[in-house]
Amino acid sequence: MKCYVKDLVVRNADGEVIVSVDELVVENGGTTSISGPSGSGKTTLLYCLSGLIKPNEGFVNWDEHNVTTMADNKLNKFRRENIGFIFQSPFLFDELDPLSNVTIQSAFNANLSKKAVNERAIELLDLFKVPLKGRKTASVLSGGEKQRLSMARGLVNNPKIILADEPTASLDGRNSKILMDCLFSYHKNHSTTLVVVSHDNDVLSRFINNLSLTQLRETDV
Ligand SMILES: Nc1ncnc2c1ncn2[C@@H]1O[C@H](COP(=O)(O)OP(=O)(O)OP(=O)(O)O)[C@@H](O)[C@H]1O
Ligand SMILES: [Mg+2]
Repeated sequence: MKCYVKDLVVRNADGEVIVSVDELVVENGGTTSISGPSGSGKTTLLYCLSGLIKPNEGFVNWDEHNVTTMADNKLNKFRRENIGFIFQSPFLFDELDPLSNVTIQSAFNANLSKKAVNERAIELLDLFKVPLKGRKTASVLSGGEKQRLSMARGLVNNPKIILADEPTASLDGRNSKILMDCLFSYHKNHSTTLVVVSHDNDVLSRFINNLSLTQLRETDV
């Protein structure tokens, strides 16, 4: 799907602009990275792309679908069916095992076969080297394992759009490369549109297009 963002502005409760993007275009099956200092609004922008945050001004279109004006029930369906979001904080269910963490969201999608989702989840967890045996719950996984689990969860429904927020932040150089290789090979094989937020120069150098955000307000970091 093609992403088209125009004149987007997000303000905080005090009316201060926390992110402002004149235009962003990502072609269907294309890629872009988003970089910028901490607090420059990268996560906020990614949330806008997914419809999780409505901007104060401007719009985000995915093909003909405007996620800034879409009604909530339609938006939830659109997100479920099209977007794989890889969060900066994994938001895992600590009490559940890795496989359940990957498959739980699919329980809400009646169009998906449980068996197929399970098989795909196991395949992705294997690909991302998340241990399935001997460790019962997600709470005992390392930071990197949690991040890779979060990536597997983002891809399990074969999304047309992948939005990844600092997916390699807790990984060493080698594992970061493995994860990005997997992400790019997935993107190529499925012709997904891929948007990745990162600070990591090794990650950013893999993208031809980059949107660089600048700090719009003073922060205490
Ligand atoms: N819900 C919110 N209410 C008010 N301010 C917010 C909210 N979410 C984020 N902000 C502020 O907006 C700015 C941008 O935050 P955001 O998390 O998008 O930055 P970021 O570029 O992703 O930073 P980092 O690299 O540290 O993850 C920050 O100053 C943050 O404090
Ligand atoms: Mg962020």
